[in-house]
Amino acid sequence: MSVTQQQVLDVLSKVRTPRGVALTEAGVLSAVAATDGKVFFSINVEASEARAWEDVRAQAESAVRAIPGVTTAMIALTAERKPGSTQPPRPTGGLRPASAHRPPPQPPGGSPMSRQAAIPGVAAVIAVASGKGGVGKSTTAINLALGLRALGLRVGLLDADIYGPSVPRLTGIHEKPQLSDDRKMIPIERFGLSIMSIGFLVEEETAMIWRGPMVMSAITQMLRDVVWGTLDVLVVDMPPGTGDAQLTLAQNVPLKGAIIISTPQDLSLIDARRGLAMFKKVGVPVLGIVENMSYFQCPHCGTRSDIFGHGGARHEAERLGVPFLGEVPLHIAIRETSDSGKPVVVSEPEGEHAAIYRAIGAKVRDQLQGVIAAA
Ligand SMILES: Nc1ncnc2c1ncn2[C@@H]1O[C@H](COP(=O)(O)OP(=O)(O)OP(=O)(O)O)[C@@H](O)[C@H]1O
Ligand SMILES: [Mg+2]
Repeated sequence: MSVTQQQVLDVLSKVRTPRGVALTEAGVLSAVAATDGKVFFSINVEASEARAWEDVRAQAESAVRAIPGVTTAMIALTAERKPGSTQPPRPTGGLRPASAHRPPPQPPGGSPMSRQAAIPGVAAVIAVASGKGGVGKSTTAINLALGLRALGLRVGLLDADIYGPSVPRLTGIHEKPQLSDDRKMIPIERFGLSIMSIGFLVEEETAMIWRGPMVMSAITQMLRDVVWGTLDVLVVDMPPGTGDAQLTLAQNVPLKGAIIISTPQDLSLIDARRGLAMFKKVGVPVLGIVENMSYFQCPHCGTRSDIFGHGGARHEAERLGVPFLGEVPLHIAIRETSDSGKPVVVSEPEGEHAAIYRAIGAKVRDQLQGVIAAA
């Protein structure tokens, strides 16, 4: 049974705002997306009024969930940043109590860990980030997750790249997550990983139009309204770049560390430096840099050519005092396996590429040793 936008608007017209106006008349709704029984929209309000609106959000969510045929309803309460404010926009509602009651931000230098609630059962959340798009962040994120898994860890993968989720393509997963009895999403199990992506829930075009605050709200739900179970490491594939959305994410997700992916080109390294600066600003330790597409490896003869003047990332890491985690060659097998939904670490586990990702995974594991062992 398909649910139409009009059906959603009809039920929303019966929900009242704090001022007693019909929700559909209050000028606060984003476009309503209703596809395959999945409904998404945001309620955008003044930050100062956000608390009063949380109840409206909850009522709207229950009303939408009660429509026959609705399988998922993700309704975010978002507050606009006031002009002139230097703080990035913050989601204000639709969150689990743990994050809704977060204490105020600490001054720079304070531990970021203390202000975000941990995810129960998850020992370490780590971000895979890049200063710019297209450098192989998602490919590295999944193969690193699989590398960690091959080392015997319990691993999850969260695709937080809301602008262009690639995990459905990388894993070949096209099914939708089921809901648990308490209406949390059950991650999809593939290759021994627990996987969640916004791409399982919305069409790619829908994901593209989401704005900063709504992005954060959706990510918070994917992080906290998911039955992750017990994990040693949850790898988060971040949206590319270092804009507001990324910064907000870095501030609001309880990260134990971040890994920066760079290609050897100068331009990418400048972007990588921006990524490093961003994590430094929010007090998240950088676990290291991975140089992707480091050198070209001929698929026929295996000969290596340093077409990009390789080694830049290693030097940069040394200069900045950040660990260098490894070099991944530009190789057609990596591209083909990524793009066909069978990442190289599982499709060619005995191969040299899998070994490289496992070695990167081992360095990451060693840095998280205390955290994982304590869990
Ligand atoms: N080491 C590699 N060798 C060959 N191809 C690669 C390698 N790493 C990534 N690719 C390919 O490059 C393309 C971009 O990679 P990927 O999607 O992982 O990048 P991304 O940084 O996540 O991009 P986006 O910014 O769009 O999210 C993909 O087609 C992928 O298969
Ligand atoms: Mg990507």
